[in-house]
Amino acid sequence: MSSSYRHILVTGGAGFIGSHLVRMLLARPVARVTNVDKLTYAGNPANLADIAGDPRYHFVHLDIADLRLRAVLRENPPDAIINVAAETHVDRAIADPLVFARTDVLGTQNLLECAREIGVRRFVQVSTDEVYGSISEGAATEDSPLQPGNPYSASKAGGDLLCLSYANTYGLAVSVCRGANTYGPHQYPEKFIPLAITNLLTGQPVPLYGDGRQRRDWLYVLDHCAGILTVLEKGVPGEVYNIAAEQERENREILARLLALLDAPDEAVRRVTDRPGHDRRYAMDADKLRALGWSPKKPVEVGLAETVDWYRQHSKWWQSIRQGDAFIAYYARQYPMLPPLA
Ligand code: NAD
Ligand code: TYD
Repeated sequence: MSSSYRHILVTGGAGFIGSHLVRMLLARPVARVTNVDKLTYAGNPANLADIAGDPRYHFVHLDIADLRLRAVLRENPPDAIINVAAETHVDRAIADPLVFARTDVLGTQNLLECAREIGVRRFVQVSTDEVYGSISEGAATEDSPLQPGNPYSASKAGGDLLCLSYANTYGLAVSVCRGANTYGPHQYPEKFIPLAITNLLTGQPVPLYGDGRQRRDWLYVLDHCAGILTVLEKGVPGEVYNIAAEQERENREILARLLALLDAPDEAVRRVTDRPGHDRRYAMDADKLRALGWSPKKPVEVGLAETVDWYRQHSKWWQSIRQGDAFIAYYARQYPMLPPLA
């Protein structure tokens, strides 16, 4: 797909999904990609080491909630913005929720204000299936009510609503995409799949929350990014698009698959206290995005095997995170019932 945009601003490009998106954009004939990232614990310049020397790539170390963002964008205005930056981990949101509202709500609004002032042609908000809350039956469509159940999903829902209000009030060309649980290379190793893989690779037990029968729809990261770019190119302003893999699995099924791939015994799984307010099931209908020509390509079993291989081959990347003081302290706080990492 060629890009109709000359200069695209991606926020959060040093994180998991953002780094794949920046790489995918640079594979197209765009003139410039600017990445604005605060480099929180989840932002890692090593994720983009391979493209750091591309003269079309520019990095700005800044918080999206910082009012100085306006001057930065005025100086070099993008014609499209993709807002990927966010605080993203539900467990951290439960432990320390304030920064979630600051980044995911206020940061989004600051970016919307910048977009309004410089007059971008497109704004894509990267959101999540979690804003629909737990879905007991069927699948959420874009018209389903928002029923977020934790401070992360509530903050993301706040960001979505601000985006849609700017489309309605100011005619800003904003579309919102809501992705399913995403996995793949370069995912920070505190989320379920990379934590399980890296724990198994280092002989540590893997925490399974509650009864392990919570259901998630697992979307491969490149399928997610292709969905975001489909919304950028073909999405209608003011509209929402679900990006769903439509391949639900129970958490315990995902772990069973990882145990098999890593030749680990069932005893490696350790049942731990459930997360408070844990959403039981996420499920979305993706027909609206499929109608624009997108479809997910990666079956979850294939994606999991490839992801395990990537973590096997890139131990330096994840060991440098896991051996850091911040990760060790996070792990001890989150999993006091498990052996400490150091
Ligand atoms: P991540 O935590 O790996 O990366 C987030 C990135 O945003 C990091 O580089 C971080 O430094 C940056 N960031 C955080 N706060 C910032 C701020 N105030 N200003 C500038 N940069 C900031 O996250 P991810 O998993 O790649 O998720 C990216 C987006 O996709 C998020 O908006 C998230 O809500 C959404 N999403 C994620 C998933 C998933 O399963 N990972 C699923 C659906 C939607
Ligand atoms: P997570 O990767 O945190 O994503 P989300 O909460 O956004 O869905 O968790 C995915 C699922 O796995 C969720 O139901 C919580 C569960 N989980 C575990 O069972 N063990 C773990 O160690 C983690 C991190 C999550």
